[in-house]
Amino acid sequence: MDDLNLLSAPINLHLTTEKEHRIMKITSILGSPRTKGNTATIVNLLIDALQTAKPEVKTHELNKLNFKGCQACMACKTTSEACVVKDDLSRVFEDIKTSDVVVLTSPVYIGEVTAQTKGFIDRAYSLYKPDFRTNPNPGRLPAGKKFVFVLSQGNPDEKLYSDIIARYSGTFSRTGFKDIFPIRAIGVGPQSDIKQNKAVTDSIAQTAAKILAA
Ligand SMILES: Cc1cc2nc3c(=O)[nH]c(=O)nc-3n(C[C@H](O)[C@H](O)[C@H](O)COP(=O)(O)O)c2cc1C
Repeated sequence: MDDLNLLSAPINLHLTTEKEHRIMKITSILGSPRTKGNTATIVNLLIDALQTAKPEVKTHELNKLNFKGCQACMACKTTSEACVVKDDLSRVFEDIKTSDVVVLTSPVYIGEVTAQTKGFIDRAYSLYKPDFRTNPNPGRLPAGKKFVFVLSQGNPDEKLYSDIIARYSGTFSRTGFKDIFPIRAIGVGPQSDIKQNKAVTDSIAQTAAKILAA
């Protein structure tokens, strides 16, 4: 290449972008006692679909953790910026703070999320600022994180339990997540093969595409 061509050559031709190099940190919080159940399978498929982002994944199985529900001590609204209850959930909250994507999963048990999941959600109150009711930015989490809520149910009626994701999306948007992506598996029982469920695999693919594009 002569001098003239060198000057006009694009200097960043072979440089990859910062986005290409950045590792995506994912914290996966499993609310089912079934380690290889429907909701756990959905998370694995989602992580597979995000491979281009070179995800670094931390998984917490709530059923195997030792933790209490919220103690209503109000320390997180008065004297402390974080939950003062020190147990296995402390490291879950630490991982959430440093993650790009948080995936929370739960089957429906008797019309609600599982007890394990609800125990975690109550403790997420510590992610609300003290003035969360009036503050336009009520959450303590840094901006830009994405939240995926995976819910599965045995009942085939999609209208049933649609309120669950809507309600907890409000909860998690208050903690600081602006982008909340739901994935629902409907009419799936203990023997279902999620990988053959087109509605679910389509939803996973669409969610992964949105996360990668954001
Ligand atoms: C104790 C228990 C309660 C359940 N309650 C409901 C329910 O109220 N409505 C429903 O649609 N499915 C219910 N199911 C079915 C599960 O939600 C469903 O099989 C789910 O896909 C399991 O997800 P997993 O494999 O990730 O654990 C219940 C299952 C169990 C074990």
